[in-house]
Amino acid sequence: MARPTTTYVCQSCGAQTRQFFGRCSSCGAWNSLVEQTAPASDTRRRRPVAADASAASPRQPRRSEPIAAVGERPLQRLGSGYGELDRVLGGGLVPGSLVLLGGDPGIGKSTLLLQSAEAMATRCSVLYVSAEESAQQVKLRWRRLAEGASEVEGEMGGEGPAPRALVRAQARAEAPESAGLQLLAETDLELVLQELEALRPAVAVIDSIQALHDGELSSAPGSVAQVRECAAALARIAKRQDTALLLVGHVTKEGMLAGPKVLEHLVDAVLTFEGDRFASHRLLRAVKNRFGATHELGVFEMRGRGLAEVSNPSELFLGSEEPSAGTATIVACEGTRPLVVELQALVSTTSYASPRRTATGIGTNRLHQILAVLEKHLGLPLSRFDCYLAVAGGLEVEEPAADLGVAAAVVASYRDLTLPPGTVLIGELGLGGQLRPVGQLELRLQEASRLGFTRAVVPKGSGLARLAAGLDLQLLEAGGVAEALVAALGVNPADDRA
Ligand code: TYD
Ligand code: MG
Repeated sequence: MARPTTTYVCQSCGAQTRQFFGRCSSCGAWNSLVEQTAPASDTRRRRPVAADASAASPRQPRRSEPIAAVGERPLQRLGSGYGELDRVLGGGLVPGSLVLLGGDPGIGKSTLLLQSAEAMATRCSVLYVSAEESAQQVKLRWRRLAEGASEVEGEMGGEGPAPRALVRAQARAEAPESAGLQLLAETDLELVLQELEALRPAVAVIDSIQALHDGELSSAPGSVAQVRECAAALARIAKRQDTALLLVGHVTKEGMLAGPKVLEHLVDAVLTFEGDRFASHRLLRAVKNRFGATHELGVFEMRGRGLAEVSNPSELFLGSEEPSAGTATIVACEGTRPLVVELQALVSTTSYASPRRTATGIGTNRLHQILAVLEKHLGLPLSRFDCYLAVAGGLEVEEPAADLGVAAAVVASYRDLTLPPGTVLIGELGLGGQLRPVGQLELRLQEASRLGFTRAVVPKGSGLARLAAGLDLQLLEAGGVAEALVAALGVNPADDRA
């Protein structure tokens, strides 16, 4: 008779061992192994061994078919009620898909999904499963959001699909029998599955997957085994009855999605909702998407009564109207979305043995590299200066196309110069001081022109002179960083060497 076996499961990566270790040998996390007792009997069906298979009759029915003969169903996407969310999803929710939404606590995941569920409920059946909050709490929030929507409606004269949907919802609040949004406050997986089967909704929101628990497992809610089991059970039912599932997932202290990596493999899309605690805007990104591109960006703003879409985010990341010394404007691209962003640099004489270099919104290594290039190729003695760099609006700019902007901001601060107003800088710096071409230059120039910029410094050989002329944009092409800075600043920053 088989004995119950004890295994140790890592709570951060899901790896299993038969022995306890203080540190997971697979992902290196400390103190993450938790004991788990597996049931004695192994009910899994064993696969026939190869010898058996070859002995079987040769005329077994074939299960595979040529890929060209596989029938296609047109992909019918459901609009989420928010253009920004649809964009990140790749054009809307796909029936039968699983979407995991991760984010820090209090960032607005529940708010986003409740607003979206309400908007979708006007067109299809939606079930909102609240495992974290009571029905009363969700109802209170829902009412607040509906009130906020009616205010927005009054202000803006009825713009956008979502506020209208919410106003209709408020009207329905008086006649609740017609409401399309069903609410279930439950943490037991079995009851949630039963409700999903009974209702067969087109969309279901599970808030959150970590709060659900499967009574058959002994481990605590939120543990790896629970999260994996709950997600797998939900995935099976979603695929079977074509329900689009939106799962909320927690983020650990380190910023990883809590629960095992297997959860990310199980779902079709992983979205992260991030933002600054101190700023009101929130960024929605796709980390993985089986039905669309990743690195798309959706921008929302947290208002007093719910989240509002920001359709013109560049204005959010542009600083003051008045140009000042040490600021430069770049055009960053997030997916297919160009964003005009202001950078600020502060360069001052250091009083430390090794100068301080601090960057917010840009990698410090990138800043070090750009400072080294400026020192070497422009002869600026920057190693005797502290350098601070900040991206306006709390945005993270990862792409190298921001390099030229960083260099210009640093040099402008060092020389106490102000860049001529209406200038954007786009280009990657090579270690040899050359300016490298960047992708999607056309989109970037169009966005800059749309926001009223009149000069753009870009790498040589863009071939976009005609486009720029059409956009009323003065295109300054440069082959190297020195040439680009002379073009941008109008003076040679290397002239009077300190
Ligand atoms: P919530 O959606 O509960 O976050 P999460 O589910 O990601 O933990 O959002 C909570 C925060 O949002 C809370 O700190 C208050 C703020 N908030 C507003 O500012 N306005 C609103 O209308 C709502 C509903 C929330
Ligand atoms: Mg929540």
